[in-house]
This record gives sequence, C-alpha cells and structure tokens, in this order.
Amino acid sequence: MSRLRIGLSPAEANDLGLIANGAFAPLDGFLRQADYERVVDEMRLADGRVWSIPITLALPEGIVPDTGSTVELYDGERLRASMRVDEVFARDKRRELQNVYRTEDPAHPGVARILAQGDLLAGGPVTVVADDREDDPLSLTPAQTRAAFAKRGWKTIVAFQTRNPVHRAHEYIQKAALEGVDGLLLHPLVGETKSDDISADVRVACYKALLENYYPADRVLLATLPAAMRYAGPREAIHHALVRKNYGCTHFIVGRDHAGVGNYYGTYDAQRLFDTFAPGELGIVPLKFENSFFCKRCDGMASQKTCPHDVAHHVSLSGTAVRDLLRSGLRPPPEFSRPEVAQILLESIRDAIAE
Ligand code: ADX
Repeated sequence: MSRLRIGLSPAEANDLGLIANGAFAPLDGFLRQADYERVVDEMRLADGRVWSIPITLALPEGIVPDTGSTVELYDGERLRASMRVDEVFARDKRRELQNVYRTEDPAHPGVARILAQGDLLAGGPVTVVADDREDDPLSLTPAQTRAAFAKRGWKTIVAFQTRNPVHRAHEYIQKAALEGVDGLLLHPLVGETKSDDISADVRVACYKALLENYYPADRVLLATLPAAMRYAGPREAIHHALVRKNYGCTHFIVGRDHAGVGNYYGTYDAQRLFDTFAPGELGIVPLKFENSFFCKRCDGMASQKTCPHDVAHHVSLSGTAVRDLLRSGLRPPPEFSRPEVAQILLESIRDAIAE
C-alpha cells in the first residue's frame, strides 16, 4: 500500500531539519499530545524538561492518517522524511496562541501562521532522508560547531541570535559579552521570516563584511541557523537559548525585545522569563543587555546603565526608519551602521528596486 503524502509548510520544513541535526534535541519528531499540551501550558515536555515552543506538524485539511501508519513528508516536490504517526490530535489554538504568543491578533506574523493551519496535529518520530541545507557552507550542525569550538580550545562560548541586518548595538553587546568568554558564535537565523525582514543572503553578507573589518578571526565563528522565526518574544528567547545550548554554547545574549515584533512584548519581558527557571535548569546562561545606542556626548556606544546624557544625544533607529532611509538612497549614519554594512544594504535595496 502506498504511503500517505503530507506537504510541509516552509516553517515545518525548517523544524524538520533541526529535529534531524540535533538542534532540537531531545525532540525525535513532531510533538505528541502530552508533550504539546505541557509545552503550551508549562513550557515543559511531558518528562519535565524545559521546552518553550510547540514544534508541531499540522495536517492539511481533509488528511487524517491512521495511527501507527508511516507517512511521507514532502517539501514541495522533494521527499524530506518519513514519520511514524503515533498520534493524531486536536490542538487548542486559542490556548496555544494566548500562552505562547500572548495574543490572538492575526496581524502578529507568528499568530497568522498558526491561524492559517488546520486544527489537527500529527505527532511521532521522523526519519529524515534529505537535508535541505547541503548547499550552504555556513549551515553547520551542532556536531560541527561543537567540533569547531573544541579545535579552537574554547571552553565558554556565547551565542548571538539575530534576524536583522547587523547594526552597532548588536556589535556592542556581542563584544561586551565576548570580553567574558572564550569565543562568540554569530548565529543568524536564515529560515522562514516575515516578508518585510531583510533577506538572509544580504544579512549574511553584512556579517561577513563586519567580521572582516572589525572582529578578530580567532574569536568568532559565523554559522547560519536554518530555523523559522516565530516572533514569540519571551517564549522564543528561551527556545533560542535551548537550541544554542545544543550547538555547544554556554552563554546566550538576550537584549531588548528579543524575538519581538511590533509592540506585543515589553522591552525586557524576555529577560524576565529567564528568571522564572531555577539556575542550571536551562543548561545555558543568559547574558542580559540593556537597550544600547550610540551617544554623541559619550562619543561611543552606551546604554542607560552607562550613559548619563539625554536621549537627544542618542542615535538609535528602528528597522522601519532604516528601510525608509535606504529606499531614499541614503545610508544609515556611521553611529548606527558600519559603513561597509550600510553599503551592502544600500546596494541590496537598489537591486530590489531595479528588479
Ligand atoms: S531578534 O528577533 O533576533 O531578537 P534582532 O536581530 O534585532 O532581533 O536582535 C538580535 C539580538 O540583539 C536580540 O537579543 C536583541 O534583543 C538584541 N538587540 C537588538 N537591538 C538591540 C539594542 N539596540 N540594544 C540591545 N539589544 C539589542
């Protein structure tokens, strides 16, 4: 009998790759019901281990595989994995949205993605047959980053998550963190993001330019994380930290409004959520940073913790403001973006407008 074929969404395809390469350990597949419910309600798997984001497989409308059957998971026309269906169960979308995203607003990009899915989930272990990242030399697996750290003799490593073009506040908090550890894993997320985020290729080009010009090569490893962004703020910050622990990192940077979007989360809500776990429970140490900016009076990067001057002296720009500048053919100022980075962004916008 032929196996049932299930199409993966781009975000589910990203999740599958991370289950397969160990980035989502201890998960061995898409969540079963007991794990799903406890993750939604308590940020824990059924066995008590911390896990903050439900990693689920939504069944397309009208497709209900038999329990115990094996289905084939396709990314477009490509067979990616087979999955043993241990359970088919109904999700409680409202509860999931309220608990994980703290909102049911369809304008929230993470919420919209869930609202577009069906109500039935399938849970069970996956056996992956094809990796989708073979063509990206920066897409290192957890085993590869751990080996790279060991080769460099790094014992303490801080990870930096980002989905945006690098600016000087990013650089400032990365370097401040690096002062206290052996190495930095620059780990931009390159999976599914919302349509107005800058493309992963451009962001990675910005990182390469920054590293070449402003970082010591023997203290930084640049690798990409083929994960989907959820924009779930505090819950996703915990998730980002757990994933980086799997890549071998000991510390994780959490700045202002980590993984946030719009005004759904408070500036330091993500940092506060880390405080609700017992020390050692996450297996990775959060390094928390205040909102950072360039201060013209200090003539350097600073935060409220280190700068006594009025905000009128501070240079900080929102993502929207930067995009508006670039669209008008202007570079963000050097206090905000390194010129090498600004140049790449400007060229990418010009190319996009010309197309
Ligand atoms: S995120 O969705 O990946 O969190 P972004 O790429 O902007 O978005 O941020 C990456 C990391 O840098 C996050 O930890 C975020 O909190 C932090 N961050 C971004 N901008 C600032 C800033 N101006 N001051 C302090 N931390 C910041």
